[in-house]
Amino acid sequence: MSNAKGVSASGHEHWGSRLAFVLAAAGSAVGLGNVWKFPYITGENGGGAFVLVYLGCIALIGLPILIAEILLGRRGERSPIGALGNLARREGRSPAWGLVGGLGMLGSFIILSFYSIIAGWALSYIFASGMGTFTGADADAVGAVFSELLASPARLVGWHTAFMVMTTLVVARGVRHGLERAVKLLMPGLVILLIVLIGYAATTNGFGAGIDFLFTPDFSRLSTSAVLVALGHAFFTLSLGMGIMIAYGSYLSPQTSIAGTAVTVVILDTVIALLAGTAIFPIVFANDLTPGAGPGLIFQTLPLAFGAMPGGVVFGTLFFVLLTFAAWTSTISLLEPTVEWLQERGRNRVTAALTAGLGVWALGLVSALSFNEWSEITLFGKGLFDLLDFLTANIMLPVTGLGVALFAGWAMSIASTREELDVSPAIHRLWLVAIRFVAPVAVVVVFLYNLI
Ligand code: PHE
Repeated sequence: MSNAKGVSASGHEHWGSRLAFVLAAAGSAVGLGNVWKFPYITGENGGGAFVLVYLGCIALIGLPILIAEILLGRRGERSPIGALGNLARREGRSPAWGLVGGLGMLGSFIILSFYSIIAGWALSYIFASGMGTFTGADADAVGAVFSELLASPARLVGWHTAFMVMTTLVVARGVRHGLERAVKLLMPGLVILLIVLIGYAATTNGFGAGIDFLFTPDFSRLSTSAVLVALGHAFFTLSLGMGIMIAYGSYLSPQTSIAGTAVTVVILDTVIALLAGTAIFPIVFANDLTPGAGPGLIFQTLPLAFGAMPGGVVFGTLFFVLLTFAAWTSTISLLEPTVEWLQERGRNRVTAALTAGLGVWALGLVSALSFNEWSEITLFGKGLFDLLDFLTANIMLPVTGLGVALFAGWAMSIASTREELDVSPAIHRLWLVAIRFVAPVAVVVVFLYNLI
C-alpha cells in the first residue's frame, strides 16, 4: 500500500497518478521511431494497407508483451533483474530468469549510449535552425551542415554531453519529482507542437500529396517483408524488450488497471506516429523533395524544405524542439532501469543516477568517435555505431522480448497473472494465448528474418 508520499511499505516509490504513468510510458514509446521511422516505412510499404498490418501487429504482439512487462514490473516491484528474479523465486522457478531482466537492462544502457548521440543532433539543430542556417540553403549546403557535425568529435561529444546531463538531472530527482514532472510538461508540449506543425503543413500545397502517401492503401506494395517490418517496428516503438516497461511498471500503484493503461499507451503512441507523418510529408512534398530513409529525412530533407519556405525558421525550430522533447522522454526511460537496479544495490538515487549517467556517457564516446576518428574500425563489416545498433535492436531486444513472453506466459502461474491483471476471464484467456503462442512465434520469426 502506498502512503501519502507515494512510497510503498517496501520503500518503493509510486507514480502520483495513472496519468503520470501513462505519460511516462507514452513518453518512452514516442521517440525518433514515431517521428521519422513510422511515417517513412508506412509510405514505402503501401500506406493505409501497411497501417492496417501494423495495427494488427500492435494488437496481437505489442500489446500483450507490453501488458506482460508492466505486470511483471508491478508484481515483482523491483528493477528488471530484481523483479524477474523475485517472481521466479515466488513461483518456484529458477532465479536464472533474472538474467532476462538483466539482458533487457543492459540493452537499455547500450541503446541510450547511442540514442543520446542522435538526440544531441536534434538539440544542435534547434540552434542551427533558430539562427537561420538553413534559410535559402541549397541541398549541398544543408548536407554540409550535417556532415560537418558528424565529422567533429568535439561537437558530437559536446551535444551528447548536454543531452546526458539533461537526462541524468531529471532521473536523479526521482520518480515523482523528476520523471513525473518532466513528462507532464514535455508530453503536452509535444502534442501542442505537433498540432501547430500540422496546421502549418495544411497551409502548404503538399498537404494532399502527403496525406495520400501516408494513408491511401496500396495492397500491391504490401510484401512479406513489410509484415516483418511492421512487427519489428511494433516492438521498437513500444520500447519493449529493454526492461523499461518493467521498471516503469514497478512504480505503478496496485489499484491501476494494467490492461486499460497499456491500451491507452498504445493508442497514444500510434496516434502520435500518424500525426507526425501528417506534419512531415506535406512539408517534404511541398518542396518537390523525395522522402529519404533514416536520419537523412530529418536532418537533411526537412531542413532543406524548411529553409525554402516562408516561416521556415520558426516552424523548423519548433520541429527540432519537438524532436528533442520526444527523444528526451525516451532517454529518461532508458536510464531508469539501471538507476533502479543500482538503488537496489544500496546506492541513493542521486549517486545511482550519476553513476549510470556517467557510464552511459563514456560508452557514448565510442559511438561519437565512430562517425569520425574511428570510422575505419569495423567488426563483422559494421562500424561501431551500427554494430551497437544491430546488437541491441536485432539481438538483445528480441531475445529479451521472447524471454519476457515465455516467463509471463509459462513460468508464472495462471492464477498469479489472473490476479495481477484483474480482467474478465475471457480477456485473460485471450492475453494468455497471445503471450504463450502468438508472441513467441512472431518474435522468433522476426529475429531469424533480421539475422539472415
Ligand atoms: N520507442 C522509441 C521510439 O519509437 C524508441 C526507443 C527505443 C525509446 C529505446 C526508448 C528506448 O522511438
